[in-house]
Amino acid sequence: MDSNIFLLLLAASLLITSNLLAIYWFAPMLLPIFFRGAPYVPTVSQTMEVMLRLANLSPDDHVIDLGSGDGRMVIVSAKKGVASAVGYEIHPGLVKLANRNIKKAQLNHIAQVKHASMWNADVHEATVVFLYQLPYVMKKLGEKLQAELPPGARIVSNAFSIPDWTPTGKEANVYLYKT
Ligand SMILES: C[S@@+](CC[C@H](N)C(=O)[O-])C[C@H]1O[C@@H](n2cnc3c(N)ncnc32)[C@H](O)[C@@H]1O
Repeated sequence: MDSNIFLLLLAASLLITSNLLAIYWFAPMLLPIFFRGAPYVPTVSQTMEVMLRLANLSPDDHVIDLGSGDGRMVIVSAKKGVASAVGYEIHPGLVKLANRNIKKAQLNHIAQVKHASMWNADVHEATVVFLYQLPYVMKKLGEKLQAELPPGARIVSNAFSIPDWTPTGKEANVYLYKT
């Protein structure tokens, strides 16, 4: 084969592969517009520490992260030795990444991330819910959590408060609520 044609084919296949990868990774970043939620912005480690402190996790806790991103809150909760830690996430790439990291950390007996909308999450058994969403969904999330969580459950929300709820704790920009 002519070396020019070979280089042309190589360049074309590299271009197609990188475009496909970009579509796989970046196109689902728009899904929150359709599924009602926040875009992917990971919680920084300093804020994670505040969230964990406010959550005060114990071995009896069943933790849920609604919109779990790369699974960092799920993984760190599982490492604290909770009974279970489950994330709900709509971005398929982030779900894969999170479950790969869970497996790598050998936490898959207690932790998992489900590819599902947080609006369909079963939170009836959760004792701790982590949130990092946006103001436009906080009222509706509050209604879902009030209706479905057991009494005494803790909700730890990064950055945004739940309208009409009174926090039982607040540190930095993180709110703690109890049902
Ligand atoms: C601000 S990020 C927070 C990620 C993670 N909880 C953290 O603290 O690092 C919000 C995440 O929610 C996800 N998300 C948005 N709407 C959602 C929905 N309806 N159901 C499930 N996940 C959703 C986004 O894809 C994104 O990963």
